[in-house]
This record gives sequence, structure tokens and C-alpha cells, in this order.
Amino acid sequence: MCGIIGYIGKKDTLPVLIQGLRRLEYRGYDSAGIAIINDQKIQRVRSVGKIDTLAEKVKDFDLSGTVGIAHTRWATHGGVTEENAHPHVSLDGKLAICHNGIIENYRELKDELEKKGFTFVSETDTEVLAHLIGSLYSGNLVSSVEAALMRVRGTYGLVVVHADHPDMIVAARMGSPLVIGVGKGEYFVASDATPLLPYTSDMVFLDDGEVAVISRDSFETFSKTHTHVEKEVTTIEWSEAEAQTQGYPHFMIKEIFDQPTVFEDAIRGRYDLEEGTARLSGLNMTDTQMRSVKRVILIACGTASYAGMAGKYAFERLAGIPTEVDVASEFRYRDPIIDSETLVFGISQSGETADTLAALREAKRKGAFVRGIVNVVGSTIARETDGGTYIHAGPELAVASTKAYTNMVAILILYALQFGRLKRLTPATGQRVLKALLEVPHKMNRVLEMREKIKEIARTYKDYHNMYFLGRGINYPIALEGSLKLKEIAYIHSEGYQGGEMKHGPIALLSKDFPVVAIMAKDQLYEKMRSNVEEVRARGARLLLIATEGDESAKSLADDVIYVPETMELLQPLVNTLPLQIFAYEIAVALGRDVDRPRNLAKSVTVE
Ligand code: F6R
Repeated sequence: MCGIIGYIGKKDTLPVLIQGLRRLEYRGYDSAGIAIINDQKIQRVRSVGKIDTLAEKVKDFDLSGTVGIAHTRWATHGGVTEENAHPHVSLDGKLAICHNGIIENYRELKDELEKKGFTFVSETDTEVLAHLIGSLYSGNLVSSVEAALMRVRGTYGLVVVHADHPDMIVAARMGSPLVIGVGKGEYFVASDATPLLPYTSDMVFLDDGEVAVISRDSFETFSKTHTHVEKEVTTIEWSEAEAQTQGYPHFMIKEIFDQPTVFEDAIRGRYDLEEGTARLSGLNMTDTQMRSVKRVILIACGTASYAGMAGKYAFERLAGIPTEVDVASEFRYRDPIIDSETLVFGISQSGETADTLAALREAKRKGAFVRGIVNVVGSTIARETDGGTYIHAGPELAVASTKAYTNMVAILILYALQFGRLKRLTPATGQRVLKALLEVPHKMNRVLEMREKIKEIARTYKDYHNMYFLGRGINYPIALEGSLKLKEIAYIHSEGYQGGEMKHGPIALLSKDFPVVAIMAKDQLYEKMRSNVEEVRARGARLLLIATEGDESAKSLADDVIYVPETMELLQPLVNTLPLQIFAYEIAVALGRDVDRPRNLAKSVTVE
């Protein structure tokens, strides 16, 4: 969703801000803008549409200066217009602000300001903030920001500059992330670490309620009551190169191909082959506490919840712990039954998903052990949970999640193994799982080598308007994930179903214009799935099978077959999902979709 970048230093700030905005594009946006302090004035340029449009437009202005802020906006309050784009300015034009989040009481503040004679040119809650701070300003920028925030209900990650204070950016956070990048004689501030990677790996993550005052040589952080807060500098291991497409046409296909490598990063040093167990150190639970866990709840949204569904199989089979998967937006409103023997994992690539965060807070309130399985280092979920694990997928910049999904599954399997070995599994079973896990990168590569063949098949499916994805057992969440990928990037309606459910209703829709993608892997449900596939076939639907290598009979059953290497059943999501990712990608490319930034979607969903 919306993105923020700010710079204060000795460099010309415009190129830094433009590059920063480009690196925020992956979050999804519909307009953008920049404000720079130039000759004791705020110079502001905004535009609707792509950053390229803004980059062209800025050429007509004198935007030299060494302090500035910029924003990518994803419309919430008010339509996609230049007037609504950030930065917004105070009435005298001397103060500029960029804001992520939602000010809930903006209407009442706006009424109050209007009565005092303030006029508004946008429909946004952010302009209300600009005027509110402006109305409270009498020479001290920090205290006017702090005073304004005392009046505000809602969420914000914001940066403010003022023409009378060319040596300062004021930043504040409540529910919407902000990161300060620490350079030499320069500082950056952004809504996530990605735009800062070309400049620094040293980051400071603001916490809710904090205000930071950033100058060229230092920064200071205060609590809500203006007490000084000491902050820790975290060094991020993501490299600048990882945040580039590296010759691939899109981030998504690059990230699909990253999977064998980042999978190795996820499991490296985290298992003990001799003992047949995993060694994930961040859980912060004693063995006795781990043995006391009677129930696991995996909370997540979208793709992360499908990774959770795959993890449920692992927890139940390996650790024998009853495990539920809950979509975060439902969990917190259904008064979940939780106690001190419940372990809740929040699974999230971004670590900022508002629904997941709120659900985890609810679980914590009710006394569960709450842990995170997160990709983005220093993200809110990573910091608010009492332990957990980073999945080490590296920056995932395509909106559609791919490599984070496989790494989430990998970590869930390792956790299930670790719990299993403390409870009931023999070392031999643990070793068998680990050995199979170590073969996964090779098997992933075998699937990736089939890209051309998958592309050829995919292109013949591009003109359908509907599709079913079917699977059973561990392959059911894979079907859901395949279907989600197709929907979100190709904009083709599709649904994921359990193979056995077809005859209870959905089969009514099948016809030659309604193809089916079925995962018919050689596992314990193979015969059952095969019968479901025969039922589909009998209805004349076109059929694409994901089948296990060596299953020659699949060819006579289906119009198209993609063979995947045989894998231990619990590990199949790590291999069988890849052809479906490529399938969706190739269809989306063939249809000319904006693969990395599909319409209406944002990478980091920070609103409920
Ligand atoms: C789908 C996708 C989304 C996310 C979901 C959760 O490709 O990316 O469904 O999985 O919004 O996001 P995170 O994992 O950041 O919590």
C-alpha cells in the first residue's frame, strides 16, 4: 500500500527520492508526489499514475535541495487525483507531510478547522493533519507535530518537513511502519527497508507512539510523552542485488526461480541430521513449555494462510498436535478459545499485515504463546511476537507471493519436526524427513527446468474465463494457492476445491469451456483423486494434470500433463506448487497483465 521515503543529508535529494519511489512501486500505488525544501520554500510536485510520469514532470521545476519527502499513494480517502496525492501542505505552504494509515476522527477535526477558516483542496485525511499541525505551529515543529498527534485517533506513519527548519525531518509512527536508514552524514526514512538498501544496511525501526527528529548528523527518538527513547540499530542482511530483477522480465518470475536458493537459506543451520530434528532457536520456549502445547493455531492471510494449511498437515502428522488454520480477519471476531497451552503462530511475508497483527494481539491478550514466522526483518509482527523465525526468503517484490510461501512451508515443517521429536517421533523418522527436505532444492530445479513446456501449455489456457484447481490432502492447499495466483495476476476467475467435494455441487459448472487443473500426485490419496479426475473427465472438461513422474497413465486421462518429481507427501507443497506459479505467470504474461503489480492489489496490506 502507500509508501514513504524521506532524505536529509548532503546529496541532491531529488534523485534519491525518485529512486526511492521506484523501489516502493511494488507496494501498489495510484499516484505519487515529492516535496523538497528549496531556498526556504517547499517545492512540491505530484502526479497521478506511474513514477515515470512524476519523474518527467519534476524536470520542469527547480527541485534542488538536500532535504525532502516523497510518497506513493494507494487511494483510501478520496479518489485518484493529483489534489489527493501526497505530500499535503499547510495553509501557508511552509509545511509538507506524507502519511500512511487512516485518521479515524478526521471528519471531526476537519469541521473544527473549517470553523476556524481553514479551507481544504483534497478529500484526504492527510490534508487535515497538515492543517492541524500548521494550526498548532508557532516556531517549534516537533512540539506542533506532537500536539497534533495527541488529537488524532487512528493509524499513521508520517514524515513532516517545514521550510523554516531545513535541517530536520520529523517522523512519527502509530500502527504504520517507519524505518530510519542510518548513513554517514545522511539519514533516510521510509515505510519499509527496500528503498534504503542501495544506501545502507543499518536501520532503526520506530515503535508505535514514537516520534523521531532526524537531522543530517543524528536523530533522536521520543515517546508519546516526549521522553527520550534509546533505539537499537539493526543491520539488515538483504543485499541490494536481491532487490533487482537480475535480467528477468519481472520480479515474480525471478522470485519463482529464487526458490531453490532461498529454500536453502531458510533451512541452513536449522536442523540436526544426526538427531533427526530441527533447531530453530528463536522460539523462546523451554522443552517443557513445548511439550505442554496442546493446540497450535496458524494465523495468516491469503497465500500465507495456504502455507499454514500445508503446515497443519505437518504439525498433526509429525508432532501429533491438533492444529487449526485461521484466516486472520475472521479469527479475532469469532471469540476464539485460547489458553496457555495454545501456541499461535502468525505467518506473514511482510510482517505488517493489519489483520494478522490484530489477530496476534488478540491471541496474546488471551494468554497464548504467540510466535511469528515472518520474512521482513524488523517488521511489526516480528517485533510484537515473543519469538519465532525469519524465513530468509530475501526481498519479495512482486505483489503475488511465491518464494515466501515455500519458505513459510519449510519453516512450518521444521517446527513440526522439532515439536515432533520432543513428543513422539523417532530419530529415524526425523532423519527421513530431513533427508527428503535436503532433496527439495534439486526437485524444485527440475520443475523450473520445465518452464518452457509449462509456458507452452499455459498459453493454451489463457482464453478461458473460469477454472477449477483440484487437490486432496496436502495437495488441496496447493490447489488453493494455484487458484489464487491465477486470479490475482491473470484476472481469470478460478476456485480451488477438494477433489472429493466436486460431486457435492461444483461439478455442475463443468463443461468444455470450464477447464480443470488437478494435482494427482502419487500419495495415499492417489486412487481417490484419480476417481475425482475421472468424474471431471466424464463431464467433457479440459483437464491439466500435475502428476508424479513415472505415472504414465496420467497421459491417457488428461489433455495436458506436467510431471513433477516424486516427493515425500508432507513436502509436496514445496515442489508441486511451482508448476502452478509458472502456469499463472505465463498466462498473465500472455494476456499482457501487469504481472508484478496486479490491479487493485497491494503488497503489504496495512489496513483491516
Ligand atoms: C497472494 C498474496 C497475499 C498475501 C497476503 C498476506 O499472492 O501475496 O495473499 O499472502 O496478503 O500477506 P503477508 O504474508 O505479507 O502477511
